[in-house]
Amino acid sequence: MTIDNKLENLFLNVSSRAALSSYRLVGKKDKIAADKAAVDTMRNELNKINMKGKIVIGEGELDEAPMLFIGEKLGTNKGPELDIAVDPLEGTNFAANNLPGALSVISVANKNNLFNAPETYMDKISVNLSDPNIVDLDYPIKKNIFNLAEYKNKKPENLTVCILDRPRHKEIINELKKLNVKIKLITDGDVSGALLVTDKKYGVDLFLGIGGGPEGVLAASALDAFECNFQGRFLFKTEKDKERASKMGIKDFEKKYELNEIVSGDSIFCATGITSGDLVKGIKIEEDEFISETLITHKSSGLKKIIKIKQKI
Ligand code: FBP
Repeated sequence: MTIDNKLENLFLNVSSRAALSSYRLVGKKDKIAADKAAVDTMRNELNKINMKGKIVIGEGELDEAPMLFIGEKLGTNKGPELDIAVDPLEGTNFAANNLPGALSVISVANKNNLFNAPETYMDKISVNLSDPNIVDLDYPIKKNIFNLAEYKNKKPENLTVCILDRPRHKEIINELKKLNVKIKLITDGDVSGALLVTDKKYGVDLFLGIGGGPEGVLAASALDAFECNFQGRFLFKTEKDKERASKMGIKDFEKKYELNEIVSGDSIFCATGITSGDLVKGIKIEEDEFISETLITHKSSGLKKIIKIKQKI
């Protein structure tokens, strides 16, 4: 079953309005307020859509009483049954400090087609290849780099690998240095990082490393439309993490998930820029209008492009 093309514009409107709300708080050194603005607007806009929507990835669980909690029902309760994953403000530090790369992100799929991901870390890898055997989350870094270099007919020194700049990645970064690849270190925002493999213009051959699980699921839905590969493995550190995961139906805590186990069937993904970054430009306000840029994908209709729109505020 495909998702109606008419919903493309509606979800584009959701992420662009949420981005506008958060943009007003950019550079105010208050990531909680910038996040709340995006959350409130996203929720408000989603509730206007004719759908039976359910949050599968959101701002936390019901007992923490946030808006857009996992399990929250959204929409007018008429229309298609959809699973919704949101990250209303991806890159809270970017927004608080007026730095490049803050995004407002949403992904929707038909009911039971989007992974109900716990809020833990995830070890991830993404690459723009249809052959699944070249790069693998379980291969040593060296094997991935050499395989990719051979496949792309490039020397390792001409490959670029994107990774979050974190102490936990020290060993991987040292290994990449030894292999003489170009490293693109990002300080935050690994939804964008994972998506930099989708187009040659970003100059990234491989994304890897540990970041948020929810961010991994969101990126996977866009990567699916671009026919890129993605794999992820949740990292459950504490017993509490494992308990929560069990409640969500996860039995094997070590499992490596392939893209189609994270998102299956049709999906729509929208990421609107709040501040300008690698993927899209940020919000601009002109009198009573605002201009937004959104990377939108819709798997079944083949839509995958950046849409720039001017809307009344
Ligand atoms: P927030 O928007 O919630 O601040 O997340 C930003 C982010 O960089 C994500 O893109 C990434 O997945 C995660 O944080 C990494 O977590 P950590 O900062 O704990 O390494």
